[in-house]
Amino acid sequence: MRKLIIDCDTGTDDAIAILAAANCSDIEILGITSVNGNVSENHVSANNLNLCEYIGLEVPVCHGAFVPLYSGFQNTEDMTHGATGLGTIVLPSAEHHSFDPRIASRFLYETAMACHGELELLVTGPMTNIALAIIQYPDFALNIRHLYFMGGSVIGGNVNTNAEFNIWADPEAAHVVMMSGIKLTMVGLDVTLKAIMTKEDVSALRKRNSRTSNLAADILDFMFERFARGGENVIMHDALAAAAALCPECMEYESVWMDVERSGDYTRGHTFADLRGRFGNPPNVRAAMRLDNDRFRAWLVSMLVK
Ligand code: BDR
Ligand code: CA
Repeated sequence: MRKLIIDCDTGTDDAIAILAAANCSDIEILGITSVNGNVSENHVSANNLNLCEYIGLEVPVCHGAFVPLYSGFQNTEDMTHGATGLGTIVLPSAEHHSFDPRIASRFLYETAMACHGELELLVTGPMTNIALAIIQYPDFALNIRHLYFMGGSVIGGNVNTNAEFNIWADPEAAHVVMMSGIKLTMVGLDVTLKAIMTKEDVSALRKRNSRTSNLAADILDFMFERFARGGENVIMHDALAAAAALCPECMEYESVWMDVERSGDYTRGHTFADLRGRFGNPPNVRAAMRLDNDRFRAWLVSMLVK
């Protein structure tokens, strides 16, 4: 059985990624680690804890970084995921499940060592926790089998012309991860902007009428309302990163050398892809470049109705 930790800033689409991964029989989720991003860490970690209890996912849930490595960014303005991160959804507060006492980077390290090089990571928020584990524990990177992340884009951004949110929120951390030697699969805006769900998908989820399928449908309905108000579409950024790990056939990939801009008047947070090989460095990232969205949607719905 493959072993996975999900490091996330839950987050509506992070929640969908967790729900899908939790229902996938190919992997064992070993823990959920929380990071400041879509909303502040206290909201993210509460969402993760409440979500795990709600769906009966009995795994360690950890607090993580409250601010990025360098910038001090905390999201107080962008309401893409609502004030607390789960849109208009209010989950019951966890009563039986409490936080693991370890901070994310330590939990990540100890779990990686216990897995003897077999641990995989799914990262759907800023990369602060992962960078901290790399910085604090020299043998951490060597013991990660693969890291799948939602972030960046070869072409274009969503926070601004150049930068995608997860990378923009902590470019220094993303740089540390990209230079770490860990095998990386990037699921960026090049594909995620096409991973849009439909009303038919919501109907299929409602028809199943399980706790997971109804929660997923509630989240998608929030996204439809958000889109109607002029906000982001019903885009499955983070569930698509889960698909890279669990249904890789729905995308095509290109290997490329990539780094993150950490300065620049206009380009901080841009993921620079050396498409022409000008720098002569070997590829460090396998970037998803094309998506079969019908195949992805079918996979995602099938995971959410299990
Ligand atoms: C990413 O930022 C967040 O809004 C989403 O959860 C996703 O991880 C998309 O840019
Ligand atoms: Ca996210």
